[in-house]
Amino acid sequence: MSTEYSVEQIEQILRRYLPPEEGLQKTILEAMNYSVLAGGKRIRPRLMGEAFRLFDGEGDVVEPFMAAMEMIHTYSLVHDDLPAMDNDTLRRGKPTTWSKYGEDMGILAGDCLLTYAFETAAKAFTRTEDAGRVGQALGILAEKAGIYGMAGGQVVDVEKTGQPVSAEELDFIYRLKTGALLEASLMIGAVLAGADAGQVKTMEKIGTDVGLAFQIRDDILDVISSEAELGKPIGSDERNAKTTYVTLYGLEAAQREVARCSAEAVELLGQLPGDTSFFKAFIEKLEQRRN
Ligand code: IPE
Ligand code: IPE
Ligand code: MG
Ligand code: MG
Ligand code: MG
Repeated sequence: MSTEYSVEQIEQILRRYLPPEEGLQKTILEAMNYSVLAGGKRIRPRLMGEAFRLFDGEGDVVEPFMAAMEMIHTYSLVHDDLPAMDNDTLRRGKPTTWSKYGEDMGILAGDCLLTYAFETAAKAFTRTEDAGRVGQALGILAEKAGIYGMAGGQVVDVEKTGQPVSAEELDFIYRLKTGALLEASLMIGAVLAGADAGQVKTMEKIGTDVGLAFQIRDDILDVISSEAELGKPIGSDERNAKTTYVTLYGLEAAQREVARCSAEAVELLGQLPGDTSFFKAFIEKLEQRRN
């Protein structure tokens, strides 16, 4: 069995694909790199890399996509923190991009990270004989980041702020705003390694479950954790009058739902080939995560 990606390896891949800080637009390049390199758990590129390995992917075609995914995730955080959205000033233990570089540069850093992510992912074409797989992976990246994915979920999240939200609407928001990028991470790793359509579908379902568990745990941590441990403010949801799993169901029922979704994801691993022990351990660790 091949060894797992270490956090250091993921950081190295990310650094390799970040843009040099030069030229007249230097400020935005600094703001982009600041946002990505501020820290972060790198969960999405890790899942992508491990999915690639699970299906016996060879070579480094997955690496531009791993970097691209973390750029898109980071852009989602940069915009999520803006004054017009969650209005937060701390992220990954550092001042948020807008509070360090100004709101204008915060908006532009997000725009540039999103676009540069696709510029980066497209470099995968030079690293493979199988351009079809790279094309399919690009399509998944776009769909799961855009209006039918993360950004679409953020739209509903923001629009429903301060209003009553039904259980179905909340699940819709979570599946899109958080689930979609986790789904894409697992799917892209599988597609680039040559997994078949049924296997890619299973990876998507696992991503949906992991995403729901991940966002509910995020809601819980917003109530029970500390700023020092999280690296972002606690009480952000209450301050913004957000309906969350905690406000709808209470802390205990919310954690039970985290456990239920995680167990469902682990169960789905049984449909996949090879050694899925990394994923089982990873999903179970996320269930009780403290940051
Ligand atoms: C935070 O994601 C936003 C949510 C989807 C809840 P992460 O918890 O993965 O943030 P980083 O990347 O580790 O900072
Ligand atoms: C946002 O959810 C998920 C994103 C797509 C960025 P939150 O607003 O709860 O994320 P945090 O708590 O600020 O990381
Ligand atoms: Mg938000
Ligand atoms: Mg937020
Ligand atoms: Mg949150």
